[in-house]
Amino acid sequence: MKRHLFLPLLLAVLLGSCTSEPATTTSGPSFHEVVTTRRSIRNYDATKTISEAEVRQLITLTQEAPSWANGQPTKYYVAMTPEKVAAVQELVGDFNKRNVQGAPVLMVSTYEKTKSGFFQGQATNEIGEGWGAYDNGVSNAYLVLIARAMGFDTLIMGMRDSDPLRTLFNIPDSETIMAVISLGYRAAEPNRPGRRPLEEIVSFH
Ligand SMILES: Cc1cc2nc3c(=O)[nH]c(=O)nc-3n(C[C@H](O)[C@H](O)[C@H](O)COP(=O)(O)O)c2cc1C
Repeated sequence: MKRHLFLPLLLAVLLGSCTSEPATTTSGPSFHEVVTTRRSIRNYDATKTISEAEVRQLITLTQEAPSWANGQPTKYYVAMTPEKVAAVQELVGDFNKRNVQGAPVLMVSTYEKTKSGFFQGQATNEIGEGWGAYDNGVSNAYLVLIARAMGFDTLIMGMRDSDPLRTLFNIPDSETIMAVISLGYRAAEPNRPGRRPLEEIVSFH
């Protein structure tokens, strides 16, 4: 996938292009291709690097994600130096640690508490802080798809040790630590895990 071609695709997607035509006509990935080739990658090409400018571009586009009252509670703490990446690798459990070897970037995703779903300090409804986690998930979904459109690969990791991550990045208690997300390049083509039959998850009324 050519990285310089991702912007037209994303602009088309973000502007709500919803025609039957591909988002780009001559080259670059269609949105369908982005969605269907994104996979959780557990095998990274250690010879490839990602620049801070590329991560900035990725997160800038991710900021287009919707959030409760546009509160934008999601934050990303980006480990890019070898020392910081190695330190985060130690905090995602043995299974994840093995699988993200070679990923040049690891990001800790948090959300600021009492923003989404809150008005003047009071929970708006029974979901409470769940809306912060919801917005964080929406943001993470944007991030992994945009990353794919840029030619990168990701792994969202819910198995991680939040307390030492908080210390490592000096994350305040006013933020809830959610996933660690790896960013890199796939070393091999992954299998596609199956999906449930549509009938099990949707009902029409
Ligand atoms: C919230 C969340 C937490 C996850 N945590 C982990 C994890 O700790 N380790 C891991 O290998 N995969 C993790 N995954 C990846 C899922 O296993 C994966 O998305 C699922 O099996 C579907 O595969 P696919 O992403 O390739 O479509 C997580 C995914 C999500 C959304």
